[in-house]
Amino acid sequence: MTNNYFLEMRKASVMSAPKNLSLEMHEVFTPGSPINHRDFFKGRVQQVRRILDTIPSPGRHPIVFGQRGVGKTSLVNILTQLLPNYLSVKVTCDSSDTFKTIWNRVLQKVTVNFKTTAFGFSRQVAEEKTNLAAFLGKDNGLHSADVAGILAALQQKAIFVIDEFDRITDTGVKSAMADLLKNLSDNNPNATLVLVGVGESITDLIGVHPSVSRNLVQVEMPLMTGEEIKEIVSKGAERLALNIDGSVLQDVAYLSGGFPHYAHLLGLSICKACVIRDIDTIDQVTFSDLACSLAVEESIETYRQAFSKATKTSKASRYQQILCACGAAVHDDRGVFRATDVVGAMADLFGDQVNVQAVVPALQAFAEHERGCVLEKIPFGSQSHYRLREPLMRPFLRIKSRGLEVM
Ligand SMILES: Nc1ncnc2c1ncn2[C@@H]1O[C@H](COP(=O)(O)OP(=O)(O)O)[C@@H](O)[C@H]1O
Ligand SMILES: [Mg+2]
Repeated sequence: MTNNYFLEMRKASVMSAPKNLSLEMHEVFTPGSPINHRDFFKGRVQQVRRILDTIPSPGRHPIVFGQRGVGKTSLVNILTQLLPNYLSVKVTCDSSDTFKTIWNRVLQKVTVNFKTTAFGFSRQVAEEKTNLAAFLGKDNGLHSADVAGILAALQQKAIFVIDEFDRITDTGVKSAMADLLKNLSDNNPNATLVLVGVGESITDLIGVHPSVSRNLVQVEMPLMTGEEIKEIVSKGAERLALNIDGSVLQDVAYLSGGFPHYAHLLGLSICKACVIRDIDTIDQVTFSDLACSLAVEESIETYRQAFSKATKTSKASRYQQILCACGAAVHDDRGVFRATDVVGAMADLFGDQVNVQAVVPALQAFAEHERGCVLEKIPFGSQSHYRLREPLMRPFLRIKSRGLEVM
């Protein structure tokens, strides 16, 4: 299965000439929606392998976790195509969900054939299609054992994907899901649950349930590597018969900071720049001057608003430059940086040789309510270090810095 998958992936990436770039670019680069087809799914070799190894193994269930925007939903979306012999059902949670509403939605999507024997002399056997949600009962309560009982009616191997499980805060719902997982592990080798959500660890998602820990297989989704980001853009461009300079690809990898959303946003902006200039090769100058400003215009509104709220001023100031420098500042694994790192980034980005005192008041202000708390202050002895409150803002700031003038 796994080998086939990689062979197919290579075949799928063969270049096909575009009929109409303006239309086709939106099929290839989709910053606003998860991947739904394996042809467009890039990288993540280890995570795909881990999930494909886990699902056929009885009593083992993958739990996919990582930051927002790293590609968790995309990974589980392509499972249907990677495991065509499985019945596959996916639901997305919201904060008002209970154990019953989640399973009601799952079971609504499953129908099974029951054999019924008609009474009378003929003893005819008839097949009856039944929606599994019909077995849920009318009252509000629902126990994990009830769901396990209903799933026992399945004659086929099945995957149940519960996406955005982090939206569930009720510990009762999490415990019921853990109990179900245990029950299925012990009694039903056909059914696999795949829990998916934002979190730094599986305990963030499901809580602490020692009884199920050996049934859960952790599939951590880290930020993408530079190579994976480059693959998204280069293979996309290849499909659209566009050429991208190697230095531009390198730049895209840096700007994206490991978030595939930005690889798609920049890929789409490159296509738009090609349409505007009527070219089919993108060089560094066109990329920085045109594609990056198109990407800023098309960026998620929340980040554009956060940027203007944080840097609003009626007087001449370096607010915009300093905030952009926060996106380029050297930081540790947790995204934490110091004022001196921002000073370094000011010099690198804008050739602006400022001292620490020139940036600290702005950094303090960015952490205040009035400027939307874009930064979080991290106490460090008598000093403060800083972190972007929203990690997805880092690539936005890097791209935004391309269009800024030196003060
Ligand atoms: N493996 C991948 N290959 C190509 N694009 C991807 C991949 N994973 C995610 N993306 C893109 O990245 C963005 C975020 O993906 P998504 O699956 O919604 O992330 P999450 O569920 O972790 O928030 C989407 O635009 C999606 O198309
Ligand atoms: Mg998602």
